[in-house]
Amino acid sequence: MGWNSWNQVRCYDLTEQVVRSAADALVETGLRDKGYRYVVVDDCWQDVRRGPSGELRPHPERFPSGMAALASYVHERGLRFGIYATPGSETCAMRWDDYPGTGLGSLGHERQDAELFASWGVDFLKYDWCQADLTDGLEPEPAFRTMRAMLDDLERPMLYSIAEYGEHEPWRWAPGLADQWRTTQDLGPAWASVARVIDSQARLADFSGRPGGWNDPDMLQIGNGSLTVEECRSHFSFWAMLDAPLFLGTDIAALSPELLAIVGNEEVIAVDQDFGGEQGRRVWTGDGEEIWTKRLHSGGVVVLVHNRNETERVVTCTAERIGAPEASSYDVRDLWSHRGLGPLGDGLDLELSPHGVRLLAVAP
Ligand code: GLA
Repeated sequence: MGWNSWNQVRCYDLTEQVVRSAADALVETGLRDKGYRYVVVDDCWQDVRRGPSGELRPHPERFPSGMAALASYVHERGLRFGIYATPGSETCAMRWDDYPGTGLGSLGHERQDAELFASWGVDFLKYDWCQADLTDGLEPEPAFRTMRAMLDDLERPMLYSIAEYGEHEPWRWAPGLADQWRTTQDLGPAWASVARVIDSQARLADFSGRPGGWNDPDMLQIGNGSLTVEECRSHFSFWAMLDAPLFLGTDIAALSPELLAIVGNEEVIAVDQDFGGEQGRRVWTGDGEEIWTKRLHSGGVVVLVHNRNETERVVTCTAERIGAPEASSYDVRDLWSHRGLGPLGDGLDLELSPHGVRLLAVAP
């Protein structure tokens, strides 16, 4: 959990001041103490050329104080510091944002870069594919393993977050290699994109759920683009059901009270962080309505009921639909209204707005 610069400022607006403000806002809003610990500087932090010894350097105008100073600033606030690199010779911004760099990828510099990052105080490495097959003839798994080996040689532990957008089924080979692996293309700040990602995750439940091995459906877009409050609530609920890394990617200080309450909902964060065994599964589909369940370590289950339609719907949640033994009785709690809804009984009728969810804890 934490914050990453990309969804907020993308490339050319990334500055050390933006990163410092994010760190300050995590503390001031109380989100740090709810678990948002990593502050990650994404692509475009680099100067356009490596230095005389082949070393990466921070961009001189946008990061005048340097990366070690920035890492210290973050650490002094009880947070951890992350950075972005790539296995090939190019970064993604060189490809997609016309970033005028040369040789900014780590290819041939893996040890040098890993040691440099450690010397700066980096705690988290995002290592991003960026078509290194096309530019450099690399293959994903061995290329990600090369950097894994470098990280293993460091004194400093770093969380290893890899991204090849789910193109080579990383959930089959990345457990044990990386701590989290992207499962999708980039998430956009619009409901169609969020809905597409949710759909693509339903089949991946078997491949996640052990600490140190998480499917990553990409960073949160809450606070961005055209997403409504209702859609943000759904987005966050689904990411919790998917045991997803929760990385804010917006100006935290500018979040409305409603959105702050969404990303700060401790009952929903607890669902995300519950290593009960596996991530949520889609267990029932109706007419554009869905029910997902996730087992908790406590023995209870979290139930997400979702309306994909453009009109309001009423969905009945029953023991049968959530796959719970019908002979037992269950107590239901609403994790967004923070209220008990009483016994499940023969079923609860739930009103759902368009693109909306209800998130319920169901305990025997
Ligand atoms: C890719 C990644 C994004 C971001 C950009 C940076 O698109 O998927 O998350 O890191 O590269 O250029």
